[in-house]
Amino acid sequence: MSQIYPIGGGKGGVGKSFITASLGALLAKWGKKVVLIDLDLGGSNLHTLLGINDQQGGINRFLDKTEKNLENTAVSTVIQNLFFISSSLCSMEIANLLHAHKLKIINAIQKLSFDYILLDLGTGTNFNTLDFFLTSNQGIFICTPEPTAIENSFRFIKAVYLRKLKHIVKRHSFNSAVKKAIIRPNHEAVTSPDIIEIVLKHDPDRENFLRNSLSKFKSKFILNQFRKNLDPTIGYKIEDLCNRHFYSNFQFLGNVGYDVRIHDSVLSKKIFVHRYPYTPPAIDMKKIAEKIINNRPSVSLTGEIS
Ligand SMILES: Nc1ncnc2c1ncn2[C@@H]1O[C@H](COP(=O)(O)OP(=O)(O)O)[C@@H](O)[C@H]1O
Ligand SMILES: [Mg+2]
Repeated sequence: MSQIYPIGGGKGGVGKSFITASLGALLAKWGKKVVLIDLDLGGSNLHTLLGINDQQGGINRFLDKTEKNLENTAVSTVIQNLFFISSSLCSMEIANLLHAHKLKIINAIQKLSFDYILLDLGTGTNFNTLDFFLTSNQGIFICTPEPTAIENSFRFIKAVYLRKLKHIVKRHSFNSAVKKAIIRPNHEAVTSPDIIEIVLKHDPDRENFLRNSLSKFKSKFILNQFRKNLDPTIGYKIEDLCNRHFYSNFQFLGNVGYDVRIHDSVLSKKIFVHRYPYTPPAIDMKKIAEKIINNRPSVSLTGEIS
């Protein structure tokens, strides 16, 4: 079964695309068949990080039915076993993806046959990004060790959990008082800990079900652009905080050091870990890729999004 890792985070410029390309390249170099999918619809630039001049497009051909099978839109890269599906030639309206198109993409991703499928997501908490993040229960969020980025990450996690909780409550026979309290238009209004309280108050019999559903989540995160003078244990503190607040399992995968050569490799359209394999950030990325390879396969969330 393919392992799907959506890679997201609340803030732009934290390194989501850089981490996607680096992780994909390392997994492929170790013999795994990997596809990277650019799902930053409207802001796609993963092709540039991979040094690919996208002439024919990927997702656009799948959505306009020129190509029925999403897998056939995958192109090869400079690294053997590493494939790429682009969204750079999608129309300007693609950022406001139709609901039916979103489901079509998610269903097709879940049918792809690769060892690893990495999804490079856009910035922010719009429903498309949240639903792409919920394509599997082991999304990785990327953050930098700055208060603004950490703040945005918490907002992103809260939004993901609330979206997930709404799906669970909508699909299962929760008391109508719970449904009324949770499924309201302002999706920032309730946080997930509040939801457990609401369920306890109105529907105590469903508490275990809700706790079990949430415990299936194995979110992961990486602190990128990490500078030497910072406390290296910040990530573990965030992990502990998230584990206490979201009734799920959060795993800190590690810090990735700041290095100006990353900027250089973006400018020269070369994959950083390929061009500078022995630099500290490339070694940080290798340790993270090892953790991913050793990770137990996740339970599929197929059919949860509607
Ligand atoms: N560890 C790092 N050290 C130095 N610069 C980095 C690092 N990670 C990313 N960058 C820089 O930040 C820029 C934004 O990264 P990118 O992956 O495009 O962010 P996002 O996809 O989250 O918007 C990159 O062009 C790169 O120059
Ligand atoms: Mg990006």
